Amino acid sequence: MTAGSKLLAVGHYQPARVLTNEDLTKIVDTSDEWIRDRVGIVTRRIADSETVADMASAAAGKALAASGLAAADIDLIAVATCTSVDRCPNVAARVANRLGVSAPAAYDINTACSGFEYALATVDHAIRAGAARHTLVIGAEKLTEFADWTDRSTCVLFGDGAGAAVVTPTAPGEEPGIGPVVWGSAPDKGDVLTIEGWRPYVKQNGQVVFRWAISALPELAERACAAAGIEAKDLAAFIPHQANLRIIEPLARKLGVPDAAVAKDIVESGNTSAASVPLALSKMVERREIPSGAPVLLFGFGGGLTYAGQVIRCP
Ligand code: ACO
Repeated sequence: MTAGSKLLAVGHYQPARVLTNEDLTKIVDTSDEWIRDRVGIVTRRIADSETVADMASAAAGKALAASGLAAADIDLIAVATCTSVDRCPNVAARVANRLGVSAPAAYDINTACSGFEYALATVDHAIRAGAARHTLVIGAEKLTEFADWTDRSTCVLFGDGAGAAVVTPTAPGEEPGIGPVVWGSAPDKGDVLTIEGWRPYVKQNGQVVFRWAISALPELAERACAAAGIEAKDLAAFIPHQANLRIIEPLARKLGVPDAAVAKDIVESGNTSAASVPLALSKMVERREIPSGAPVLLFGFGGGLTYAGQVIRCP
């Protein structure tokens, strides 16, 4: 048993191919102006032959290298994804095999775009309960494989990628590096965002999701701060799910985070679902935009409709 856990290091991976808004105008009836204006996306990365497991392994390998731990130290791997095609083995087992982690607890979680925060919470709980020690938590998605490339209202939104964190116990007497999670869902709205049937495509009632995000999330994000014993105004960074710049900006305004660095990776990466928060976090850490140890609110939301968020200390 331990009093808490913390993010020791992070890493990310994005495929090399860049798809611009201009490229999309050759596929569907859209424009650079509409996409920038309504969503804020300028480019997104597209995985061709790479799988969810490939991207998850690449991001996790970087996080592991940055942590100074060895593969043999890892005893649990949790992967958040809603776009893994294969049912079995799960992505976590594939990552373990690639990285040479010999016998970890290995599981996938699917809560769509809030998946990384859900996975982070389960891992924090496992560490606190003494069921795990050194762990890998990964968000990885290949949403473009589930995009309907004839539907301009959805296909312009998505990108592929992965982000990962090494999460370990805090030292005796050290403050917890991961605050209590605020998590939940709105199952009565489950039908407004689906990837269902066979063969599944992403479909959504964007306006209902948009209104829910703007109206319900500010208070939930504030609760995650309160659960960690801090005020939103004291956050060093706010990293919400990267679904739409027109959601991110009002959310930050309503929450009241005047001095925080607000993640806007949507602009260059599109919506990468469960990968979007760890991807943005890892890039911000790499660019040294957040001081080590500073409080950061992670907040995911999406299909289900689900949400989860917690305040972490920046690695
Ligand atoms: N290019 C040009 N025109 C378009 C495009 C496009 N790519 N897409 C839609 N339009 C048109 C529509 O046909 C419509 O035209 P009409 O008025 O002639 O009928 C008009 O633009 C407005 O369409 P809306 O769907 O009303 O556009 P809106 O302003 O709502 O923006 C968007 C759509 C960006 C999807 C927005 O609703 C949104 O961001 N919603 C939230 C999405 C979200 O947060 N999802 C959760 C996470 S995703 C996940 O979990 C996988």
